Amino acid sequence: MSEFAEITGWGKCVPPAVLTNDQIASVIDTSDEWIRTRSGIRERRVSHVPNSDLASVAGMRAMAAADVSVEDIDLLIVATCTPDTVIPSTAAHVQRKIGARNAAVFDLNAGCSGFIYSLEVATSMIRSGSFKKALVIGSERITWLFNWSNRDTAVLFGDGAGAVVVEPSARESGLLYSHLGCEGEAADALQVPNFGTAGNRFVDNYEVFDVQFDGREIFRRAVKGMAGETHIVLDKLGLTDADIDRIIPHQANLRIIESLAKYLSVDMSKVEVNIEKYGNTSAATIPVALVEALEAGRIKAGDRILLAAFGAGLTRAAGLLRWGDRVTPLKHSDAELKPCDQTALDIVSESIERTL
Ligand SMILES: CC(C)(COP(=O)(O)OP(=O)(O)OC[C@H]1O[C@@H](n2cnc3c(N)ncnc32)[C@H](O)[C@@H]1OP(=O)(O)O)[C@@H](O)C(=O)NCCC(=O)NCCS
Repeated sequence: MSEFAEITGWGKCVPPAVLTNDQIASVIDTSDEWIRTRSGIRERRVSHVPNSDLASVAGMRAMAAADVSVEDIDLLIVATCTPDTVIPSTAAHVQRKIGARNAAVFDLNAGCSGFIYSLEVATSMIRSGSFKKALVIGSERITWLFNWSNRDTAVLFGDGAGAVVVEPSARESGLLYSHLGCEGEAADALQVPNFGTAGNRFVDNYEVFDVQFDGREIFRRAVKGMAGETHIVLDKLGLTDADIDRIIPHQANLRIIESLAKYLSVDMSKVEVNIEKYGNTSAATIPVALVEALEAGRIKAGDRILLAAFGAGLTRAAGLLRWGDRVTPLKHSDAELKPCDQTALDIVSESIERTL
């Protein structure tokens, strides 16, 4: 048994092709002004490679930062709702690509809350004493699912991956406590109904995915759900809002993030926001924002960091992370995606043609 499970490595991978609001407005009926003022998003990344490539590069960068060898990874979890294939899991593809042959591997789909869910699972498995080095990756290629005739969703999402290495520790560090939930009665508020065994594959059109989305309903539940989970976590740990050094919230909408900060009486200067660059990358938003906070020196040894998310399900989650001593990587990886010679609009052009 280990008392704590500390984050010892971190890495991100965002694909290079940038899709701006103006570029989207050149193909569908929307505007930079609408997207920016309603969501805070200015641009997002579009992946030219499968999800597992993004996950693998983020994972290799996290292992280098922790200076752990890939053979020592005994647990590999990929939080995703956009798997490379349904069979096998994205985690199995990642295992093969990075060579983590001694790892137990699985995907975890909790929508945009997937990273916090996965970190809780990895933390519990490390604390049990059965696992020693976990690689937890949040990774998505959401743009692959886009139906460009659903303008409300096509403007909100983007692709990316973030990863952490988790190891046993005797010092109070890592995810100290988390609380996870789901509002299944509102599952219809965000779903892709014609992809999966509930459908008739010979009747349903499996080429064009319907993205069913009730943004207002999700917005309303998001702030309440994240604030509720946060207070459960703080109460359990005997902390108050004033004890939070940084908040790393899921990046779905700047207005949701600001409402959460207001609800918790935390100044926005303590909140990580990068939605303007990447949009909503689902399970990847929190690990990508964590990596950027570390890279910019905004996380200090011993900081108490609140993670909060909500997503398809409708899932909700919050967790309190205590940072360890080290805020700089031990090593750097030279892992890179294969070069991209297309523009973001080139990558999505066929999908635009077939779904508009
Ligand atoms: C989606 C979201 C940005 C919409 O913002 P909003 O202020 O609630 O906007 P509304 O839904 O009230 O829509 C307002 C109008 O904009 C229109 N609109 C929708 N998408 C648009 C787009 N891309 N461009 C221009 N207009 C758009 C709507 O048709 C509506 O027009 P109407 O008033 O004439 O009917 C917001 O609800 C949101 O962020 N929700 C949560 C995010 C989320 O669910 N993320 C995924 C889960 S993590």
